[in-house]
Amino acid sequence: MRSALTCFSLAMLALLSAACGPGGSKTSLAAGAASADAGKPSTDLVFDGISTADAINPNEITLSWQPAILASTGSGAGLMRYHVYRGLTEELAKQESSFVATTDPGVDSFIDSGLPDSTTIYYRVVAMDTEERTSITTEVASAHTPSSYGAGTIDYSSDILPLWNTPMPGDANTTCLSCHTNPGAGMLDLSTLEGVLAGVGSLGAPDSFVIPYQGESSWSEFLSRMSVWPNFFEHSPYFAEPTGLAAMEESLMAWISEGALAEADSTPPVFEFGDSETAGRYFGEFTAFDTVQITFPHAVDPESLPFNGSRAGQLEYAIYAGVDSNNINWDKPVAIGLVELANENDPTISTSFEWLESDSLIVVVRPMDASGRSVPFDFENYNPETASASEITNFRNRMRNQSANEREIFIQR
Ligand code: HEC
Repeated sequence: MRSALTCFSLAMLALLSAACGPGGSKTSLAAGAASADAGKPSTDLVFDGISTADAINPNEITLSWQPAILASTGSGAGLMRYHVYRGLTEELAKQESSFVATTDPGVDSFIDSGLPDSTTIYYRVVAMDTEERTSITTEVASAHTPSSYGAGTIDYSSDILPLWNTPMPGDANTTCLSCHTNPGAGMLDLSTLEGVLAGVGSLGAPDSFVIPYQGESSWSEFLSRMSVWPNFFEHSPYFAEPTGLAAMEESLMAWISEGALAEADSTPPVFEFGDSETAGRYFGEFTAFDTVQITFPHAVDPESLPFNGSRAGQLEYAIYAGVDSNNINWDKPVAIGLVELANENDPTISTSFEWLESDSLIVVVRPMDASGRSVPFDFENYNPETASASEITNFRNRMRNQSANEREIFIQR
């Protein structure tokens, strides 16, 4: 069962600990339940505390736990209620002032909403019995919300569509749109953004030309697609007199380098952990003293458009690591994994990175779609500690739209 409780008043990071005090809770205490022991910690409550915290999108985290029972009777799970605490550090989550909400009886999960994106948030859950005695629970779990999608700023209908009215040299009545509006006949449809993104061809063999892939999509790719066999002659007047194309270049280049996905992609890619084919294939090991290799299944992203018939090639994997769960460096991935199109049919992807900091580590893999891929960015030299504000913004745009259902893996040298 899922608790519908959320704390809506929370919008800003700074308000995290204060905005959702006890008054912010949407449930009232069960009538007549209070006793002399109310609010007192009791060793009679057997409760393991929070078991999972997962970000489900940039602004929501879902929590779950195993039901508590009373040691004296071995029962009581159905009547147990739970206090949820939240903080920006593990220590804060352990304080009473970090209280967020109380669930209804018997509820063993909670969705926390209105959270800031790109932030690690710590949670603690305490069980409360019908006498309002509470468990003594110090377990804390954390989750990191992904960055919000930074939608492109170039609008297709007002900035790009008019470009397709460029007349064919020598034939003022023929424009790109004279030919490119008939997708059913195997023609690229330039009249809608969807048509452009889908390219020509069937779903099984699509031919999309503006989706950036491994950073190679560019103005020159656009031109080469336009000049490609078997229909070069259709375009030859444009190439014979290239001033018309040159006039389109600046706006189209800007659009392409925005990722051309100017519409918000609300669902980041996800790993299908429940899939029996891929279950257990998410692992890592030291392959040399200083090298860690991790192997994981492809993620799926229904909203990523097929590239050469493959959705796998649309995704990228950001690998984060830390000496333990609380020290994962979310400001800089240790590696970015890409699927080589040649290997797209392999059921798993492997990536290696250097690790000298400790004998064991925690690794997290987050799939990302292509929406941020063409933001110019230099990973090698990026240092979050000395980066300027615009470099940090660039980094977040580059890393936007990441999955939020990753699992941590523990690796020992
Ligand atoms: C006289 C008809 C005609 C005109 C005008 C025309 N094209 Fe084409 N174009 C075609 C045909 C036919 C093809 C091959 C089939 C397809 O890809 O749609 C093609 C293919 C393309 C492709 C490659 C599509 C892909 O997925 O690889 C691009 C890009 C393109 N045209 C852009 C343009 C642009 C931009 C203009 C205007 C500046 C233009 N075309 C004007 C007929 C035309």
